[in-house]
Amino acid sequence: MKSQINIGLVGLGTVGTGTAKILLENRDLIARRVGIPLELKRIVDLDVTTDRGIAIPDGVLSSDLPGLLTDPSIDIIIELIGGYDTAKRVMLDAIAQGKHVVTANKALLAVHGEDVFAAATRAGVDVGFEASVGGGIPIIRSLTEGLAANRCVSIVGILNGTANYILTQMLKEKQEFTDALAQAQAKGYAEADPTFDIQGIDSLHKLAIMVNLAYGTPVNVKEVFTEGIAQITALDIQYASELGMTVKLLGIAKVHDGDVEARVHPTLIDNHSPLAQVHGVYNAIHVVGDAVGDVMLYGQGAGAMPTGSAVVSDVMDIARNIQRQACGRVPPTSFPENQRIPIRIRPMEELTTRYYLRCMVVDRPGVLSQIAGVLGHHGISIMSVLQQGRQEGQTVPLIIMTHRASERSVQTALKEINQMASVVSQPTTLIRVEDEER
Ligand code: NDP
Ligand code: HSE
Repeated sequence: MKSQINIGLVGLGTVGTGTAKILLENRDLIARRVGIPLELKRIVDLDVTTDRGIAIPDGVLSSDLPGLLTDPSIDIIIELIGGYDTAKRVMLDAIAQGKHVVTANKALLAVHGEDVFAAATRAGVDVGFEASVGGGIPIIRSLTEGLAANRCVSIVGILNGTANYILTQMLKEKQEFTDALAQAQAKGYAEADPTFDIQGIDSLHKLAIMVNLAYGTPVNVKEVFTEGIAQITALDIQYASELGMTVKLLGIAKVHDGDVEARVHPTLIDNHSPLAQVHGVYNAIHVVGDAVGDVMLYGQGAGAMPTGSAVVSDVMDIARNIQRQACGRVPPTSFPENQRIPIRIRPMEELTTRYYLRCMVVDRPGVLSQIAGVLGHHGISIMSVLQQGRQEGQTVPLIIMTHRASERSVQTALKEINQMASVVSQPTTLIRVEDEER
């Protein structure tokens, strides 16, 4: 029986600092819950001089990564450097040394997770990644354990704190996109490469991890339709408000006759829906299970302490498994390897939904009927039209809300509409709508 569990931490940045702070400052509580102390024995970072505002005991912080990976006394290694290559090497090397690993690295898991999970299963060690989706929200354990008895009907979530922060600032503070992004970066929410946040790639990574766990299937991220928030303007946010709706970057997964629909894009949702109330860096994930019905998880999706909370919860879980010799009790992907079945990700053009279209058109008689004609020709039914004011001969926004229509038809119609050069002055903005037909 071990008298303590030793931890090695690689990467003392935003999340690493939060994690170290929790391990050090909540040491007594954690020891009481686990039954024995968790000792933060080594921390490795490229930078060993910057003051992170936490009291790291002498001799713990160094830049000696090989020393940490080969230290036989270390039981659990936490990877918090981010990125693909070095992070993957750290995890696979640690696993090869028989060490358990914990990570917040959704990019790595979404793209190379199968390699990491297979190596861990072979080695009989645990992989914790609660922090990889939803920051401090315990969604991974909910999918793998709490909701495990359910067939997952759908998962719809606000999965990126930075994008939600930007959209919230644009709505509430009328801020420009770039100012809101700079603030999110300063607060430590954004990825090292913030295009991952803005272009929906970070949400894609998180959705892919959840689909993997919920449906017991490997996911090829290239098959998941992904669109970011860069084309959303203050005008769209304002029109959405007038329509009683809010723009959110959503990750959506739904099961259909054996296929899974999985997509990430800016989405219009009713102002009264619970997800519309989720502001700033907060994330929320709405899961529907066939037995449990609706479950909603809400919390801070990024930042040092919320994410550190999830990282440390994994460390504690693994420490408990080590003590009870129960490692591997829950397979990393929730399903034993021989029970995982590849499921088709339904291509986007096969989906149907409602659409908000903003056409920038010349304000003159007959323009609306020309555009409506193209939509009608492709079987797209118009639900409502909004054009405010009168600026004869000038370019004005024409907002069209459609009934449910097929993505393939809408894309074909928009190509035609965008080619009507005498009528349409710039490419039409399309935002998909997520709700029941009203
Ligand atoms: P940071 O960039 O703040 O921290 C990464 C740290 O790792 C830096 O201190 C960096 O040093 C160090 N580092 C880089 N390469 C090495 C190396 N080879 N050896 C040792 N140290 C190294 O990133 P975050 O803390 O924000 O993110 C870490 C992980 O957590 C990422 O996978 C991210 O996606 C994930 N995550 C982040 C969240 C957040 O809110 N920030 C939330 C959820 C997940 P240096 O700065 O000198 O390069
Ligand atoms: N950059 C991510 C976000 C961090 O903004 O949500 C949390 O995964």
